Amino acid sequence: MEKTKVGIIGLGTVGTGVAQLLLDHGDRTARHAGRVLWLEKAVVRDLKKHRDCDLPQGILTDNVDEVINDPEIQVVAQLIGGIEPARTIMLRLLKAGKDVVTANKALLAEHGAEIFDAARELGRSVAFEASVAGGIPIIANIGQCLSANQVSSLHGILNGTSNFILSRMQEGDDYAAAVAEAQRLGYAEADPTMDVDGTDAAQKLSILAHLAFGARAHWKDIPCTGIDTLDVTDVEYAGEMGYKIKLLAVAELVDGGLELHVSPTLLKAGSPMAEVSGPFNAVRVDADAVGRLMFYGPGAGQMPTASAVVADMIDTAVGRTKLTFQTLELWSNRPARVSAADY
Ligand code: NAP
Ligand code: HSE
Repeated sequence: MEKTKVGIIGLGTVGTGVAQLLLDHGDRTARHAGRVLWLEKAVVRDLKKHRDCDLPQGILTDNVDEVINDPEIQVVAQLIGGIEPARTIMLRLLKAGKDVVTANKALLAEHGAEIFDAARELGRSVAFEASVAGGIPIIANIGQCLSANQVSSLHGILNGTSNFILSRMQEGDDYAAAVAEAQRLGYAEADPTMDVDGTDAAQKLSILAHLAFGARAHWKDIPCTGIDTLDVTDVEYAGEMGYKIKLLAVAELVDGGLELHVSPTLLKAGSPMAEVSGPFNAVRVDADAVGRLMFYGPGAGQMPTASAVVADMIDTAVGRTKLTFQTLELWSNRPARVSAADY
């Protein structure tokens, strides 16, 4: 059986799950890719840290050049969070001729244009299914499967940590305990402020809006309020009135303009979005030909996110380079005609 050698950069919550899937289930990649994805190297910052997966000797390194300079490694999952050194490593990987898969929405929302332009010039691909809504295949669905449609609106619960905290608050937990539990379970960002102040949801909304509407809205221009403004009494009062509070990210065509915002929103208890609980996400899409679709599933966490990353690695390895990437290319070649305030 043919092998495609792959690397992982960052072996935290997501990277460990990716390593586990590659090492334990090579048969699945062989089944779909017709070749084995062979984990050659995994790069970490701290070699002494305990890792929750058994790695064969010689895989772990703290030197990213061992991946960048290895001509046999063709596909790399870049799973360091934040902007630097993730951005520099990503660009170096592309220049070294690697195809890259990432879950890092903060990086794509901030430097997506630079990264996708570099990939295009270098003839490489960047796949990013795991960057929005964890295990839900929302990028492929919006980027590929709905291409015959004009999407008119997206409504999403896009941050698993906030949704988990809100669900715990509904059960009477206090806010701080719920945040700590989300961190322990691996749902939260390294800095959970990004989750609770709405930044993470705004970054994901900017990626989805780019795919669905060609809107190059910077996430910082999206009006955004997080759940850190809420008190447990808000959640209780909402419940007494028959509502649930959800952190909703919305992109909607209104009078020819695209309105984008992220905010805690009262939803009638019993409605599909209101009943999305724990670290789950949901995205409701309204589009002219297909009508209304709703996607639901685990939006954060180790194995759901690893599922999306490894699927991207398989697609990349067999040259089934994400069509979503091409969609972004098409949109990227259009003049920027959309902002959060002015479509
Ligand atoms: P994490 O647990 O904090 O892991 C980050 C990893 O990056 C760690 O292994 C760390 O190494 C490594 N790292 C950091 N700086 C490095 C450097 N300079 N050189 C080499 N390695 C470095 O983060 P995570 O939760 O796995 O998230 C990774 C990415 O996926 C983020 O962009 C996040 O937003 C995204 N994401 C996460 C989830 C989720 O549910 N957690 C879901 C979807 C997307 P050490 O272990 O040695 O410190
Ligand atoms: N911290 C993110 C969340 C991880 O809670 O949704 C998934 O992107």
